[in-house]
Amino acid sequence: MTGNITFTMIKPSAFEAGYTGKILAMIEEGGYKIKAIRKIWLSKTMAGHFYEMHVGKPFYEELTTFMSSGPIVAAILEKENAVESFRKFIGATDPAKAEKGTIRNLYGKNLGENAVHGSDSDESAEREASFFFSFTERV
Ligand code: CDP
Ligand code: MG
Repeated sequence: MTGNITFTMIKPSAFEAGYTGKILAMIEEGGYKIKAIRKIWLSKTMAGHFYEMHVGKPFYEELTTFMSSGPIVAAILEKENAVESFRKFIGATDPAKAEKGTIRNLYGKNLGENAVHGSDSDESAEREASFFFSFTERV
């Protein structure tokens, strides 16, 4: 069975470039309902915890430095088959390989600064959603 929520972040580069409104409009027009949303500036420590599954990978240091370099917008999204459909919707991790018209294709700069995050499984979606939002913020 597939879940109906996923978690996203508008990453610091896209937020700083002023793409938040356009990205959120695409998300809503794509049929995703915003269940919770917040602007937040992560510390390096918090970014490190969020991406703990990538500890030891060559890009971990750069990733956590980048993700704590400025504010982000974090959100929980609801749609049928949310995780899988949203990953297709945002496009491949590398914007250069992302399908035309996807969020990463339109607003990503490079492999690291790829505009948005999308959960990779229902378990990750739940973990990531509760990393940022309390129960009362999600109803
Ligand atoms: O975000 P996604 O699930 O598509 O990719 P990931 O493999 O979970 O990697 C998390 C994030 O690390 C990516 O979105 C990129 O911002 C960054 N990354 C990177 O800078 N260099 C890589 N070789 C792989 C990922
Ligand atoms: Mg991932």
